[in-house]
Amino acid sequence: MNVAPLKLKPTVRQSLASAEAPADDLERRRELGQFLTPPDVAGFIWDLLEVIQGKRFPANTRLIDPACGEGVFLHVAHERGGLPAKSLFGADIDETLAPGWRQDPLLRDANVVVANGLLDDPASGIVAAAFNIVAGNPPFSGKGLRDLLRLLEESPEGARHEEQDLFGASCLKEEAAPPREPLSRQERAELDRLVRTLSQYSCWRLETEPEQADEADEDSKGAPTELFSAAALFDKRRPTASDYERASQLIAQWPQNRPLDTSQPEVRDTIRRLASTAIEVMFTERFVRLAKPGGLIAVIVPESIVASDRLALFRTWLLGRMDLLASVSLPQKVFTGVGANAKTSIVFARRLPQDRPSGWYSPGALDSLREEDSPIFLAAPRLDAPGFSIASYLSRVLADARRKRETFWPDPK
Ligand SMILES: C[S@@+](CC[C@H](N)C(=O)[O-])C[C@H]1O[C@@H](n2cnc3c(N)ncnc32)[C@H](O)[C@@H]1O
Repeated sequence: MNVAPLKLKPTVRQSLASAEAPADDLERRRELGQFLTPPDVAGFIWDLLEVIQGKRFPANTRLIDPACGEGVFLHVAHERGGLPAKSLFGADIDETLAPGWRQDPLLRDANVVVANGLLDDPASGIVAAAFNIVAGNPPFSGKGLRDLLRLLEESPEGARHEEQDLFGASCLKEEAAPPREPLSRQERAELDRLVRTLSQYSCWRLETEPEQADEADEDSKGAPTELFSAAALFDKRRPTASDYERASQLIAQWPQNRPLDTSQPEVRDTIRRLASTAIEVMFTERFVRLAKPGGLIAVIVPESIVASDRLALFRTWLLGRMDLLASVSLPQKVFTGVGANAKTSIVFARRLPQDRPSGWYSPGALDSLREEDSPIFLAAPRLDAPGFSIASYLSRVLADARRKRETFWPDPK
């Protein structure tokens, strides 16, 4: 296992981000949520994955970062873990990264593509349930999925339907952006594919509206499918979980060779809902989907994913598909150097061999799950500790994890 000391060095691009990068490029990268992970934080994540595993990973371990930026997670897997380029996969939507990948001796031989990381890309081997390790720092903030709203700009008929629509009223306030250049046929096809794929994700159907968060706290004691029903009793105009469920089935059954009918109220409301779902929530689900049964997940997430009331039901969904192994909270300043101010945590988890049955969660369920006996390794920085630095904090967390490995991640008997 690599025990090199942790030093926080910015990458070339990160130095550019804070120094001489032109303002429009900074703005573009902010829109993409492009806050690159310091290499030594990525190194720490790799080392903790090895501690959890209890040994080095074999060379045929397939690792992916579906929003890979400059590929820092692929680099640490190669440099610290010895994984060969052919085992490393990455996608990023920012095509300006590609020339850098081509000049990089590791990345040019790895499977790195300009693509939307939320979608499968079978040509490059990027498909669900195909990876032993899914590691990364997905985008947060930025423009997220707002481009999906462009599909609504082109269908005036839709507006008429909205008036009578059950879903509509609570969504009407989410107006599409002012009209721009009409979508090209290819742009339309790409957005159409994104809607079809994301509508089959679960997270967007589980998130509660802000005003429902309190009710959801209560509801989280019940099954996730009951999420919206209490609210619907009081406000007929609010969509229910089963409305969204129906809409996702409708979209799944829509013929592949015909564009989605964006004049249909259900389709329009689904698009609005997807567009307003935070991109980090979509990516958290994507990380889980990419992992093989038994595969490891290590993901840097903003605090909302681990703490927000709105996402309580999504966390229940996650725990039906993965075992939480560790959560390491990061000081805010980890990303301030690259222009982000978010409080983040690193979540380590293992994809379950089989999903828990839907409706598995009940107030007593956690007590009766055998595997819940295993403790979860938690770490948080003490920023007021004398001489605190991120490097010393992460070194200490790693040393602690090594000492306590048998308690937290014992080898199977
Ligand atoms: C927070 S940065 C992290 C990059 C890299 N994982 C790291 O840790 O340094 C998020 C990256 O996601 C990319 N991105 C944004 N939306 C994406 C999408 N839909 N699919 C793939 N990549 C995306 C951005 O271009 C950016 O490089």
